[in-house]
Amino acid sequence: MNALNRILTILALALVSPWAQGQSFSLAPLPYAYDALAPVIDEQTMRIHHGRHHQAYLDNLNKAVTATPALAGLSIEALMTQISKTGEAVRNNGGGHWNHTFFWQSMTRPSQGGSPSPDLLAAITRDFGSLDQFKAAFKSIGLGRFGSGWVWLIVTTDGKLKVTATANQDNPLMDVVSERGQPLLGNDVWEHAYYLQYQNRRGDYLDAWWQVVDWTVVSTRYADAQKK
Ligand SMILES: [Fe+2]
Repeated sequence: MNALNRILTILALALVSPWAQGQSFSLAPLPYAYDALAPVIDEQTMRIHHGRHHQAYLDNLNKAVTATPALAGLSIEALMTQISKTGEAVRNNGGGHWNHTFFWQSMTRPSQGGSPSPDLLAAITRDFGSLDQFKAAFKSIGLGRFGSGWVWLIVTTDGKLKVTATANQDNPLMDVVSERGQPLLGNDVWEHAYYLQYQNRRGDYLDAWWQVVDWTVVSTRYADAQKK
């Protein structure tokens, strides 16, 4: 990063900081450029998805938290694990913030994402049969999520890997979902995630998305989950 980029980054962080806005949660810049995931995900989709959809979840989350003093100071993870007590606004918008932050961090430039670590690959093979069978299960569950939601790879409470789906902006950390676990990977199957480029072809989006999955990040999450 050159000096100008460093200064611009510092200014951007200052503008979105909680102190600048008087808010608890703020929008982090993407860890790559808006056009970095093309041609798998186009620049316009990324700009609208991050700058408008994610920003809207954040704005509404901050409004909801501000209106509920008992929630002040809680981390986004703490909110997720007791979402049954926070109300619908925090469930929808806090989920939207956590899910999208996790999603941005799960991706990298096409073909730069490496491969699952040996430990993660062994667990995938143990629980799905092979990496290809895992991907097929992920696609099937993603296609089967009727309406808006997310498809996940999680570590269950008994240490197994499992593919699950959640509705709307729910996620596997929430104490309201039927299958809880530690998320390793999640894909957004709301139409806003893919419609400009793929229209109604969710399956094509799910197939292409593997090209931008950052397996280094996913493998680190698996290693961290093993320590818990
Ligand atoms: Fe989204």
